[in-house]
Amino acid sequence: MRDLLIAIGVLSALAGVAAAAKRDWTGSTACGACHPKELAAWQATPHATTAARFGSATVPGKCLACHATGEAPAGPAIALEVGCEACHGAGAAYAEDDLMRDLPVARALGLVDLSTPKARAAVCSGCHARTTKSGPFDANAPVHPVMP
Ligand code: HEC
Ligand code: HEC
Ligand code: HEC
Ligand code: HEC
Repeated sequence: MRDLLIAIGVLSALAGVAAAAKRDWTGSTACGACHPKELAAWQATPHATTAARFGSATVPGKCLACHATGEAPAGPAIALEVGCEACHGAGAAYAEDDLMRDLPVARALGLVDLSTPKARAAVCSGCHARTTKSGPFDANAPVHPVMP
């Protein structure tokens, strides 16, 4: 059952990859240059620190599908982290100041819509099963809460 759930997760992750407009990635540091608060908040989460689970061992491609950002297992992973672009979409085409101020344009260039519960659930479910060890998975839980 767990293998089946993982297989479904990988397939949906691949579907998400295929849907992005451009296959170009900037990396989380580049996003953080303009979004320092989100970067700092994200750095404290398990999404950012997952590399620590794998130590120095080579990570199998099937694990990179969810524990990394990029096109694994079909293509290269750009980082061993669940980076900004794992949720927001590959950013090279939209990650510019004037484009990002124009939401419809940014979306057309690959910025993923996460504004509704349904849209969020679709992105999270690419990697997360419906239930976790501690209970139901909540797609609306804060992912990088910025403190006021
Ligand atoms: C050159 C600066 C710059 C870079 C680089 C950049 N952004 Fe932005 N981003 C902006 C600006 C400006 C806005 C719109 C104003 C605002 O809300 O801060 C914005 C808005 C956003 C939003 C909110 C969109 C909405 O719903 O209104 C998200 C999400 C976002 N950026 C994610 C990213 C990600 C992910 C990356 C890296 C791939 C990235 N940004 C790189 C400048 C940038
Ligand atoms: C379909 C996506 C997916 C794949 C593929 C995947 N993982 Fe994970 N993994 C997750 C998610 C999501 C969590 C967080 C679980 C939670 O807390 O709900 C996680 C958590 C973990 C944890 C933390 C301990 C635990 O069980 O909660 C370890 C260790 C781990 N994964 C190792 C691996 C290894 C090794 C592989 C490759 C053999 C792998 N994962 C493949 C999604 C995946
Ligand atoms: C696990 C998925 C995920 C990751 C990883 C992630 N984000 Fe987000 N981000 C979201 C969600 C969900 C929202 C809320 C969207 C909404 O309500 O419209 C959001 C909102 C934002 C916003 C809009 C303003 C705000 O703070 O709500 C910006 C900017 C942003 N993210 C930038 C980033 C940057 C930069 C990174 C990497 C350092 C990053 N995100 C990593 C899921 C993610
Ligand atoms: C690219 C795959 C991927 C996506 C997309 C993703 N996650 Fe994750 N998430 C992971 C992995 C892998 C872990 C486990 C990291 C670790 O602990 O090593 C994790 C861990 C978490 C945790 C911590 C769980 C714990 O046991 O501490 C939360 C909360 C979480 N994710 C929420 C979300 C939400 C909400 C979304 C959607 C907005 C989302 N994630 C999208 C892969 C992903």
